[in-house]
Amino acid sequence: MAAGAGLALLAALLAAAGAERSRNVSMQYNPGWNGSSVNLLHVRAAGPGDCLHYVWSSIGAPAVLLVATQSPSSALRVNWTRLLSANPAGAIWIDPPHSVVYSTAVVFTKLFEFSEAKPLGELFYPTYDLSEFSWDSLNHTLNRTALTAELRGAPASDPGGGFSNGSLAFRVTAYEAAGRAGRLPSLLHTADSSQLEFVLAGVAPRGNSSRFALEVATVEEAGAARRLRSQRSIDDEYTPTIFEVLSLVAEPQNGSSTLGFLQWKATAYGSRSPRREDGIQCRAQGLQAANWSLPVSSIVQAYFGDSLGSSCTVSALNVSFGGEEGEVYREKRYLSWSVLLGFGDPPRDSFSPLVISIAAVALGTPLAMLLLGSCLVLLAQRRRYSEYEPIN
Ligand SMILES: *[C@@H]1O[C@H](CO)[C@@H](O)[C@H](O)[C@H]1NC(C)=O
Ligand SMILES: *[C@@H]1O[C@H](CO)[C@@H](O)[C@H](O)[C@H]1NC(C)=O
Ligand SMILES: *[C@@H]1O[C@H](CO)[C@@H](O)[C@H](O)[C@H]1NC(C)=O
Ligand SMILES: *[C@@H]1O[C@H](CO)[C@@H](O)[C@H](O)[C@H]1NC(C)=O
Ligand SMILES: *[C@@H]1O[C@H](CO)[C@@H](O)[C@H](O)[C@H]1NC(C)=O
Ligand SMILES: *[C@@H]1O[C@H](CO)[C@@H](O)[C@H](O)[C@H]1NC(C)=O
Ligand SMILES: *[C@@H]1O[C@H](CO)[C@@H](O)[C@H](O)[C@H]1NC(C)=O
Ligand SMILES: *[C@@H]1O[C@H](CO)[C@@H](O)[C@H](O)[C@H]1NC(C)=O
Ligand SMILES: *[C@@H]1O[C@H](CO)[C@@H](O)[C@H](O)[C@H]1NC(C)=O
Ligand SMILES: *[C@@H]1O[C@H](CO)[C@@H](O)[C@H](O)[C@H]1NC(C)=O
Repeated sequence: MAAGAGLALLAALLAAAGAERSRNVSMQYNPGWNGSSVNLLHVRAAGPGDCLHYVWSSIGAPAVLLVATQSPSSALRVNWTRLLSANPAGAIWIDPPHSVVYSTAVVFTKLFEFSEAKPLGELFYPTYDLSEFSWDSLNHTLNRTALTAELRGAPASDPGGGFSNGSLAFRVTAYEAAGRAGRLPSLLHTADSSQLEFVLAGVAPRGNSSRFALEVATVEEAGAARRLRSQRSIDDEYTPTIFEVLSLVAEPQNGSSTLGFLQWKATAYGSRSPRREDGIQCRAQGLQAANWSLPVSSIVQAYFGDSLGSSCTVSALNVSFGGEEGEVYREKRYLSWSVLLGFGDPPRDSFSPLVISIAAVALGTPLAMLLLGSCLVLLAQRRRYSEYEPIN
């Protein structure tokens, strides 16, 4: 009874905390500009005492800027003349500037395609450079009720014709409160995060056992660095057969708190309506503190300006799709990978009710037998003891 009351209290407290952490989310397409030849999506997620700004854009390479502020009324400012010029430094800023507590950016730079050619090792096909893609207008994909939008593109010049019947897309979902995505991999989210789904659909592979890898770069300001963490769980109720969760966390160099994160499960899916058996193995390869110059991504240059070259650190990693089941993409011509992007600590999966009850039953049976056993021993001892009583 006491334990039940305790759990009910905890649930009530968590629910209250969850309610408190909800945000008012709004989405704006190309704020302050009357054109649709470029895409800039501003997602504003205001809480009671703070505001998160996500700026998604396909100007240059597809990228997102995440700026956390400690003012619920902070605003995004864009100087479009400067943003669309050859030198965009300083074209994007937050007003008031002193309200900013953390800024980061994630840039999707390249898509690699390779084959496992048996005697030769990996064979790479020409790289798709995402900064050389042309992108559809995001405006008509905006759904302000579902808080979703899609950035879809194909190479501006595609001599091989691989994209003639296909496209690459980034689907964005913003959240007002904590919860769990309904579709696999059923990522857990908080009000401080957004989900991004990378989708490759209908693109013709250039080899019979082609696999793909997406290069992802992150930008951190002085004093912070990215680290790749891998966690294992025995619980796979929400993402069947997948036990590994990867987080690319941003941490201050002198502390242990987490500033921001990218988080994903070690799986992609080869279907529009993913099921467990559509899983495609997903691996993260070597986080590099890349000091190569960042690919041209105008919103990153526009926000970080000249400090990008001097005090920011750029790290990059490759996320590759396909293991032994390398043929999945050739058959399905569909690949979907979901990743959560957010501010603060990444959400942590607690054990699902199903696993807790299985554990309770599994642990409970021996425990019950143990208790029953000790009761019998006690009874026997009492019996023996009482047998001696007459002697006293
Ligand atoms: C947007 O541009 C169209 C023509 O391109 C013009 O008619 C319209 O007045 C403009 N709207 C604003 C708000 O500038
Ligand atoms: C975006 O779409 C809305 C309606 O769907 C339209 O009113 C608006 O002019 C569009 N904006 C741009 C910049 O094209
Ligand atoms: C969301 O907006 C409504 C009305 O504008 C306001 O009453 C509410 O407090 C806001 N919620 C948060 C979490 O800021
Ligand atoms: C926007 O940038 C241009 C070019 O750098 C500059 O001339 C103009 O004054 C800026 N506009 C505002 C409102 O700051
Ligand atoms: C927007 O999303 C809502 C909720 O998911 C859905 O009911 C609605 O049909 C969508 N609107 C459009 C235009 O797709
Ligand atoms: C293009 O893709 C669709 C499904 O994505 C498929 O049904 C169709 O047959 C494809 N067409 C060609 C020419 O490959
Ligand atoms: C690819 O597969 C097709 C049909 O399955 C086959 O005809 C072709 O020889 C294969 N190509 C290579 C390079 O293995
Ligand atoms: C860590 O460094 C930042 C400046 O880079 C400083 O503001 C902060 O107080 C430091 N924190 C600790 C725990 O030393
Ligand atoms: C990369 O970093 C090394 C050591 O920090 C430095 O010597 C080198 O000049 C850097 N290269 C570039 C292209 O910035
Ligand atoms: C990703 O893989 C490609 C091909 O092997 C390589 O050229 C590139 O440097 C890798 N990027 C990172 C960040 O490791």
